[in-house]
Formats: sequence, structure tokens, C-alpha cells
Amino acid sequence: MILLRPFSPTDIPSVMEIVRRSLGETYPPSLYLTVHNLWREGFLVLQAEGVVVAFVAAVPSGERVARVLMLGVLPERRRMGYGHRLMGELYSNSIAKGFDTLILEVRKSNKEAIGFYERQGFALTGEIDNFYSNGEGAYKMSKTLQS
Ligand SMILES: CC(C)(COP(=O)(O)OP(=O)(O)OC[C@H]1O[C@@H](n2cnc3c(N)ncnc32)[C@H](O)[C@@H]1OP(=O)(O)O)[C@@H](O)C(=O)NCCC(=O)NCCS
Repeated sequence: MILLRPFSPTDIPSVMEIVRRSLGETYPPSLYLTVHNLWREGFLVLQAEGVVVAFVAAVPSGERVARVLMLGVLPERRRMGYGHRLMGELYSNSIAKGFDTLILEVRKSNKEAIGFYERQGFALTGEIDNFYSNGEGAYKMSKTLQS
């Protein structure tokens, strides 16, 4: 059974594992609490048979704009529509909150994610040099939400 629900602090170990395995990063647990407290319905997890296997985290970024900070699906759970389902729920929650635009940054080398976001209706809007700690640049992407 698939369950989509807001993140809860007890999900921190599972989300940290997804971030480590899908994004190669380790952030302090306090980061997840901060994001959770900024906008509860913007931080969502997807549970399959009781196990958290994917999540998306977005925060307000201006009156009508939200910014997707992270999206990750465990490698063995990809191409099953989980990313799509998380983003769909995020679009609904964003519209309900009065946001009309979602923005994000993605590594220039991350062709899979760039393709995924394009098929989600995001368009390239710019680039930022040296955005990541290893010096890699980012593409900026944006999607207008239809209410
Ligand atoms: C990008 C990412 C989140 C996508 O998650 P996902 O759950 O695999 O996404 P979906 O399954 O919804 O869609 C991916 C593809 O699988 C396809 N798909 C979905 N269900 C499918 C199924 N049952 N059978 C075959 N293909 C399927 C989708 O059509 C989609 O194809 P497309 O990319 O050609 O449009 C995932 O690859 C990931 O975690 N990557 C590493 C982390 C990352 O890069 N995050 C984004 C930057 S922050």
C-alpha cells in the first residue's frame, strides 16, 4: 500500500538515508526540523508497505512562490511513479497555500532529474555558477501552477 503524508520528525532517519543514497549528502537532523517548521504541507514523504522510500521538501520563497529544496526516491524504487505522485501532491498543497510558482535548482550534470522536471512542466530559467560545494553549477527551473 502506498501512503503519501506530511513528514513527521520520526521520519528523520529514513529521510536522511534517502538523502545519503539519492543525493550523496548528509545534513544535520536539525535541518529537517527547520524545513518541517517552515511549511508542514511542503515536506511530504511517500511510504510503501510501511517504509518511507521517497520524499519531497519545499519551503516558502516569497508571497506566491515556493522553492523545492530536495526530492529523492531510493534508487531501487525509481520509475514507479513515486516522484510524480509526490510532485502532484506538492502542486495541490502549493495551490491551496496560495503559491502560483514553484522554483528549484538542479545540478547541471543531473540529466535524469532535469528530464524529470521538464516532463513535470518545469522550464529552464537561468543558471548559477559554483552553486554546489564541489564547484558545480546549477540550472534554475520554474513551473507556473494552474489553480
Ligand atoms: C528524479 C527522481 C526524483 C525521479 O523519481 P522517480 O520516482 O523515479 O520518478 P517517476 O517514477 O515518477 O518518473 C520517472 C520516470 O519513470 C517513468 N515511470 C513511472 N512509472 C513507471 C512504470 N510503472 N514503469 C516504467 N516507467 C515508469 C516515468 O514515466 C518517468 O519517465 P520519464 O522520466 O521519462 O518521464 C529520482 O530519479 C531520484 O531520486 N533521483 C536522485 C535524486 C535527484 O536527482 N533528485 C532531484 C534533484 S534534487
